[in-house]
Amino acid sequence: MENNIVIVGGGNAGMQVADSLRKGGFDGPIDMFCAEPHLPYQRPPLSKKFLEGKLEEKRLFLRPASYYETKNIHLHLLTKVVSIDRQVHVVSIADGRSFPYTKLVFATGARVRRLPGTEGLGLHYIRGIDDVAALQEKLEPAMKIVLVGGGFIGLETAATLTRLGHAVTVVEAMDQIMPGLVAPTLAGYFKQVHESHGTKIIEGVGVDRVAKSDNGYAVSLGDGRAFDADLVIVGIGVIANTDLAADAGLAVERGIVVNEFAQTDDPDIYAVGDCATGMHMRFGAPTRLESVQNAVDQAAVAAKSILDEPTAYDALPWFWSDQYDLKLQMAGLSRGFDDLVVRGDMATGKFSICYFKGEQMIALDSVNAIADHMAAKRLLAAGTYVTKAQCADADVPLKTYL
Ligand code: APR
Repeated sequence: MENNIVIVGGGNAGMQVADSLRKGGFDGPIDMFCAEPHLPYQRPPLSKKFLEGKLEEKRLFLRPASYYETKNIHLHLLTKVVSIDRQVHVVSIADGRSFPYTKLVFATGARVRRLPGTEGLGLHYIRGIDDVAALQEKLEPAMKIVLVGGGFIGLETAATLTRLGHAVTVVEAMDQIMPGLVAPTLAGYFKQVHESHGTKIIEGVGVDRVAKSDNGYAVSLGDGRAFDADLVIVGIGVIANTDLAADAGLAVERGIVVNEFAQTDDPDIYAVGDCATGMHMRFGAPTRLESVQNAVDQAAVAAKSILDEPTAYDALPWFWSDQYDLKLQMAGLSRGFDDLVVRGDMATGKFSICYFKGEQMIALDSVNAIADHMAAKRLLAAGTYVTKAQCADADVPLKTYL
């Protein structure tokens, strides 16, 4: 019987599954369901160039509408899958129609974590095109804005809004910004740069409560401090969209559980991207990653499995974040590091932090040091042994050790 593929979710991961299937020679039907009204789009610019008004909406789209027609990918926009019948192999959508599948792929992504107790207050979030449009509608010149959360979203948005002339305060509950993502020394460096541009950063205390005031909001911190804001934007992380999978009886552990082939415990169902807790051969442990790299690479793995050419997921994770003129590029996962080496002079604004576990380098974060990032990706992927002294010597390019 000919395969027909249903992809639930129209983000980067979903689009990449369809694309990889077509590239791999699959010519059967593909139905892709997307709750949003937009063509599949890239999210990273949302907190940066798109918010700043420097990128047209159509430039966000991963592919033009004509691509889906040419490739015969049935894209169902504004259409939510509401249930899955694994016995009969059909998915149902809100209007009652159902679509059969031989293979089903979850690419349902993640939704923002809401700040508790603030429903109906009109707080802003940055996850989709519509979120940014809603925020832009409210922006007036020189506003007082509080950003809750000092992760990538909070900090990138803070940099953009400061640059647009707003008075911005970031509140991060943990004792450093980007906690668990970068070393304290790097977080300290970023904090300084933000402050030098006029962004205020408060660390070590969370936002406890937000209430409406006469002309804006009263924001209360855990230590009793309180201040006013015209707008409050929340970036306190995301939650994987796993409800459909859980309702269908699939295993969920923070994400939909998949093996190294992106396959759930139902051999006809796969999950990829932000929504999947995947077995990564590189770590030998289930990991849920939120990144473009993971969406793209895991989608390719799922497509290969569907095409009967199973290839285990073994990609090196990498991430990036742009804040002011700092291009932060991260190769590998630094969590669990026990030592670090600074490569280059932090004062020059171009350097890298090399993370070690024992004598093995496990990750490298570079700031405006693209050559280090490129070389580190290859060194880390290959597991090449580089000493701390070699890392510390910025006069010798890292690619020398490849
Ligand atoms: N007050 C202040 N800070 C808080 C609070 C609170 N009440 N609750 C959580 N935080 C902080 C966390 O300590 C964390 O540092 O918010 C930060 C959220 O950071 P992330 O979990 O990295 O999430 P976010 O920045 O929202 O990004 C969400 O979008 O850009 C992508 O890579 C990013 O995948 C990630 C997603």
